[in-house]
Amino acid sequence: MKLLTRHGYLSLLLCVGIFSLIIFHFWDEELEFTSGQPFSDTERPRPASTSRGLCRPGVPCEFPEIVDLRVILLTFHRPDSLHKALNSLDALELDGDVAILEIFIDRYKNGSIHKATVQVADNFTWRKGLKRVHRQMKPVGIYGQWIDSWKPPKDSDELAIIVEDDVDLSPFAYRWLRQTHLRHGRKSFISGYTLQDLNIRIPHGKNINREVNRVNGAVLKRYPAYFFRVAGSWGFAPHPKRWREFQEWFHTDAEKLRHPYVPKARMNTNWYKDFERQHREDSMWTMWFIYFTDQHDLSTLVSNVPKFSSSKTNSLSCNRLEPGLHFKEGRTKSAQHCQKILMKSWSEKFVANSVQLPLIGYEGQYLGLV
Ligand SMILES: *[C@@H]1O[C@H](CO)[C@@H](O)[C@H](O)[C@H]1NC(C)=O
Ligand SMILES: *[C@@H]1O[C@H](CO)[C@@H](O)[C@H](O)[C@H]1NC(C)=O
Repeated sequence: MKLLTRHGYLSLLLCVGIFSLIIFHFWDEELEFTSGQPFSDTERPRPASTSRGLCRPGVPCEFPEIVDLRVILLTFHRPDSLHKALNSLDALELDGDVAILEIFIDRYKNGSIHKATVQVADNFTWRKGLKRVHRQMKPVGIYGQWIDSWKPPKDSDELAIIVEDDVDLSPFAYRWLRQTHLRHGRKSFISGYTLQDLNIRIPHGKNINREVNRVNGAVLKRYPAYFFRVAGSWGFAPHPKRWREFQEWFHTDAEKLRHPYVPKARMNTNWYKDFERQHREDSMWTMWFIYFTDQHDLSTLVSNVPKFSSSKTNSLSCNRLEPGLHFKEGRTKSAQHCQKILMKSWSEKFVANSVQLPLIGYEGQYLGLV
C-alpha cells in the first residue's frame, strides 16, 4: 500500500472524525429509542416511556397530564450525585397525592451526553410514582434546564419542586409545600416557595464580602416561614401563575435586556457581574428571576422551620455542594450530613398558620407583616 501523503492523511483523519461523529450520533439516537421500558399497546398510556420529543429546547415544557406534584430533577454529568438525589426522593411523603418525576439531562456543548448519568437515570425506579427521563435534544445550559422544564398547566393545582442533582429533600418537603401553598398561595405577591432555609445571605455594611445571615431577628423565631425578596434555588417551587409570567417575559421582553442588574439586590448583582467578567453568567439564571420579581414586587416564601423550632435538623432541603457548574472542589458536604439536617418528623406547627408573615427586604431589614 502506498504511503499516504500528509494531505491524504489529514483527510483520512477528518473522515474518520466525521464518521465517528455520525456513528456517535446514531448510537446516541438508538440508545434514546430503546431506553424506555418496552411496552405493548395495552400498556401505552403509562407516560413513563414517552419522554422522547415531549420537551423542546427553548420552549417551556407542557406535559400531557396534570398531577399534584411534579419533581423536576436537573442533571448533567454527575452520576453519583444524581444517585444520591434519587435516593432522597424515594422517601418523599405524598399523602396520597399523585406525583411524577421528570429527570432532565443536559448535553455538553459538543452535543454529547454523559452516558453514566443517563444510566443512573434510566435504571432508577421511583417508588412514589412514574418517572420520565428527558435527554435535552441539544445543550441548553442551566438557564434552559431551569426555565423551560415545567410550564405550569393553566387552572390546575399542580406544583413543581425544581432541584439540581446535588440537592436532597426531606421526606416532608411536599407536605410542607402543599399545606403552605394552601394557606398562602392566593397572595398575589408570592414568587414561589424556597425550601432552602440556609444561605439566605445579605451583605453586611459596605463590605460586600462580609455577608452575614441577618435574617434571624427575634421576630422570625415566632414564624415557621417568612417572605424574602430574593428566591433561593436549592429546592425551589415556583408559584405556578408567576412562573408562567416569568417564562413569558424571559422569552420575549427579557431578550432586549442586556444586564438584569438589580441595584437593591447588591450582593446578587455583584455575583452576577463577577460571573460576567468570567463569562460564566450563564450559570446564574436566578439573576433574571430576581430582576423579574423586583419589577413586579414579588417575594418568595422561605422555610424558617429550623429557627422556629430551634432545631438544626429540620431543613426541607440540603445542598451537598458537589463540584460542578456552581462550585469547585472542596466544599462538598456528605449525604450523611444532609440526612442529619433534613427534617425527619413532622408537626402541624411547621406550617405557617397565621394569615400574615414577616417580609424581609433586600438588605435584611424587617418590613412588617404581609
Ligand atoms: C464532548 O465534550 C466532553 C467534555 O469536554 C468530552 O468528554 C466528550 O468526549 C466530547 N465528545 C465528543 C464526541 O467529542
Ligand atoms: C440498577 O439498579 C439496580 C437495582 O436498583 C442496581 O442493583 C444496579 O447496580 C443498577 N445498575 C446501574 C448500572 O446503575
